[in-house]
Amino acid sequence: MSSSTTVSRKPVRVASGELASDGAGVRLRRLMGTPHSPSIDPFLMLDYFDSPNASDYLAGFPEHPHRGFETVTYMLAGRMRHRDNHGHEGVIEPGGVQWMTAGRGIVHSEMPEQTEGLMRGFQLWVNLPARLKMSAPAYQEYGPERMPVEAREGATVKVIAGRTARGTAGPIATAATEAFYFDIALAPGTSFVESIDPAHAAFVVIYEGALRIGEHAQAIRAVALAALGDGDAVVLTAADAPARALLIGGRPLREPVAWYGPFVTNTEREIVQAMDDFQAGRF
Ligand code: FE2
Repeated sequence: MSSSTTVSRKPVRVASGELASDGAGVRLRRLMGTPHSPSIDPFLMLDYFDSPNASDYLAGFPEHPHRGFETVTYMLAGRMRHRDNHGHEGVIEPGGVQWMTAGRGIVHSEMPEQTEGLMRGFQLWVNLPARLKMSAPAYQEYGPERMPVEAREGATVKVIAGRTARGTAGPIATAATEAFYFDIALAPGTSFVESIDPAHAAFVVIYEGALRIGEHAQAIRAVALAALGDGDAVVLTAADAPARALLIGGRPLREPVAWYGPFVTNTEREIVQAMDDFQAGRF
């Protein structure tokens, strides 16, 4: 076989997620991390919130802990104030991202910085390898002006993490999982073609319009998450309306996962330790 042979990834599973309530009562759509929307190693969970009604988001996410993984908050609209027990505080602006490495532990709150208007965005949980689960907490935070947007024929790609095949690199460092995170906008009928490391797991989240993935005949309509099968490229084609989608992937960790609420470790014993540490104020 020629080394130039391209295998286009196909959607192997499509999920529209489940409506859920989390934090102090924020209404959201859980697209990954439920019994019906399984995790895609190294990713654990994905929530999508999208509401013009303050009653759906005002309660926010008051103080809660995390250990053993990363949370990635990407705001499309609205502002979120973040504050943790180590004195870190800031506001994620529309179009901005916060990539938080919880590591050995933080206690934080995530509260809307608005009492009306549209609040829209995603929170993704990315697992950490065993060797980094107890690392020091760290933040990577960038406003939209810091994230490059690559222009293509009929498409734009905002690069939050990783590097496109044309060399546009996002500001977020993701050495632990080699995660990439692209926000793609497509004009009706146009295609976006991108190479993907065959060793990486990848998925697409269609959040506006409808997309065909590869030669798959059926357009997948927003809102949906499509897990991608094996291959070294992906072809996304917008149907008859403008489409927007996230393309996310990374290297699977292939480690045992023990998961209890906001703690993700490798063993049950480490979960008990996490609960002990949290209750004793050691986060
Ligand atoms: Fe959190």
